[in-house]
Amino acid sequence: MSEPRILVTSALPYANGPIHLGHLAGAYLPADVFCRYHRLKGSDVVYICGSDEHGAAIVKRALADGVTPREIVDRYHAMAERDFAAFGMSFDHYGRTSSPVHHETATEFFRAMAAAGAFSTHTEEMPYDPEVQLILADRFVVGTCPICGNPQAYGDQCEKCGTALSPRQLIEPRSTMSDAALEWRETTHFFLPMGEHQARIEAWIATKSHWKPNVLGQIKSWFTLGLGDRAMTRDLPWGVPVPEDVARAAGVDPEGKVLYVWFDAPIGYVSATREWAQRAGDPERWRTYWQREDTRLIHYIGKDNIVFHTISFPLMLMLHGGYVLPENVPANEFLNLEGDKLSTSRGWAVWLGEALEAFPADYLRYSLLRTLPETRDADFTWADFAAHVNNELADNFGNFANRTIQFVAKYRDGKIPPLGTPTDEDRAVLAALAEAPAKIGALIDGHEMRAAIQELMTVSRLGNKYFNDAAPWASRDADPARCDTTLHVSLQVCAALSILAEPFLPFTAAKLREILRLDGVRASTPGGGEGLGWDDAARPLLRAGDPLGAPAILVSKVDDAAIEAQRALLERRAAAAAAAAGPAPALPYAPLRETITYDDFAKLDLRVGKVVVAERVKKSKKLIRCEVDLGFETRQILAGVAEHLGPEDLLGREVIVVANLAPRKMVGLDSQGMLLMAEDRAGALRPVTAPSEPGSTVS
Ligand code: 2FM
Ligand code: ZN
Repeated sequence: MSEPRILVTSALPYANGPIHLGHLAGAYLPADVFCRYHRLKGSDVVYICGSDEHGAAIVKRALADGVTPREIVDRYHAMAERDFAAFGMSFDHYGRTSSPVHHETATEFFRAMAAAGAFSTHTEEMPYDPEVQLILADRFVVGTCPICGNPQAYGDQCEKCGTALSPRQLIEPRSTMSDAALEWRETTHFFLPMGEHQARIEAWIATKSHWKPNVLGQIKSWFTLGLGDRAMTRDLPWGVPVPEDVARAAGVDPEGKVLYVWFDAPIGYVSATREWAQRAGDPERWRTYWQREDTRLIHYIGKDNIVFHTISFPLMLMLHGGYVLPENVPANEFLNLEGDKLSTSRGWAVWLGEALEAFPADYLRYSLLRTLPETRDADFTWADFAAHVNNELADNFGNFANRTIQFVAKYRDGKIPPLGTPTDEDRAVLAALAEAPAKIGALIDGHEMRAAIQELMTVSRLGNKYFNDAAPWASRDADPARCDTTLHVSLQVCAALSILAEPFLPFTAAKLREILRLDGVRASTPGGGEGLGWDDAARPLLRAGDPLGAPAILVSKVDDAAIEAQRALLERRAAAAAAAAGPAPALPYAPLRETITYDDFAKLDLRVGKVVVAERVKKSKKLIRCEVDLGFETRQILAGVAEHLGPEDLLGREVIVVANLAPRKMVGLDSQGMLLMAEDRAGALRPVTAPSEPGSTVS
């Protein structure tokens, strides 16, 4: 059976800043594992990515730095390409949307859609920044929220109270490009009336019940809201120009108009595939992937890109016609950092380039794979990183390979001993190996990378246990043939691991194969060629009598000083960003509630309680279940704070409890009271505590 044709894309990162760990955990590392695995399986894979070089954010960055947009994208495109390569990303082609091929492809797309009658045009008044002379999209306007008073509300939404806004509703709206007060200008744009096609998209999405629940959930809420008209063009001096003939035919002045970045960026996947085909000397070959229905098209993205890849880009492909639609869009949730949201503007990010100066790529790959936000947001901490590398990668995987290889080097002259007569225990290990490729492969193919890497570690754990139980150091003199069998089987496990680890840890896997002198494995990178592949890991691959290479340490532990240095770097960068941003804008205090009498207050029975149990409630994003010792009794109380605090922030603390609040049920659990919390102006929560014995009254 021939393996399928697979076209994989990772979201094109904006070329206005360096790649950070959050990017990798979302759209890049999982896709790389998927592609490397499928190349080892013998599938026909094309993996496409590149820089997203247009859009107002890049213009804004250029204005801030006093350079041209071209200088910005050149700088960050080169940086991303370099860092991705050092991290082991195996793109077949890394394009850029400022390339001529992309401009041509995006223009053709727009022209074909216009010819098919896909667009309408509307004229409306838009905010205008007189200082930089730009008409602004709503997102580039800030002002005071008329609902909650947040002075930093955006022209499309207030992020503090969640209200959807328009720039006209903001109090004292200003431009984020220059801080100028706004003016208004009339302008005409092309719109995609998505509402007209909602039924068609809904029918297509209905065939995707296998998609991840987080993705389907977001899509559903878009459908419930109802799809509306979306502008597909912008007034900007940087981007793919709106084709003049199309504009004139629609009665629109094309001067200064470009395609909307979310129109042109996904077409970047197509144009990068065209460039790949051109470079391969077969310029029409891109069609074999994009224009055949039996291609498996998979878009790896982060959750902020879901609507574009599941609704607007598929609709563009449908309206253009002749293109395959995605088989899956396995979007990940967000990666937080040391308990806080990742934010490049606040300097709260780990840049890939810097991390790679401190640690080998595979250490970062391993820890990120263990932490992937596949079903919910996840937190990357340097402490977890050290634990992942030291206790798992080094102590389990590295240690198993090292001890086996060292033993053979020392006591068997570095030659692979014979299998001899295997016992049931030896056979059980070989049987487990026979199943491992299919097991791990199914998880990778189902986009469950976290489970897949755990399964890989199960194989090396099995190897370690087998080695320990068989104790070759004891049989070495007493029963040399037995010892040989143990070493032979252990080396076969190492050989299998050197293939099975390849998608996840390509540098370590290659090093292990070199030590084992396991030649002839096909590469998991583009153009990998022929040779041993994924399924071959199911059978013994090493031949008795063959020599091994010189032993070398596969994984070294990371020390506390290196981890401390990373934490300090993060803190320094956050402090520098805060200093550069100047004093935080004054946030409003919550308004006072209506006056009450002392009798009203006296109805409250407030008590000190000690939190003796605190745990997240499964199936709830908001709730932490606490057991609180009130001295005279212990109560179960559900606190709706899990989006702000972890169980560790409550456990063992002496908190204040509203002890006479009527009990109520939440997610099927009783809550017998309430914990008092202080909420600051930025919305951060802290438990109110009192160092007093449980049961003390508070008044
Ligand atoms: O969110 C982002 O970083 C976008 N630059 C992703 C674009 S994905 C695709 F459509 F190109
Ligand atoms: Zn608000």
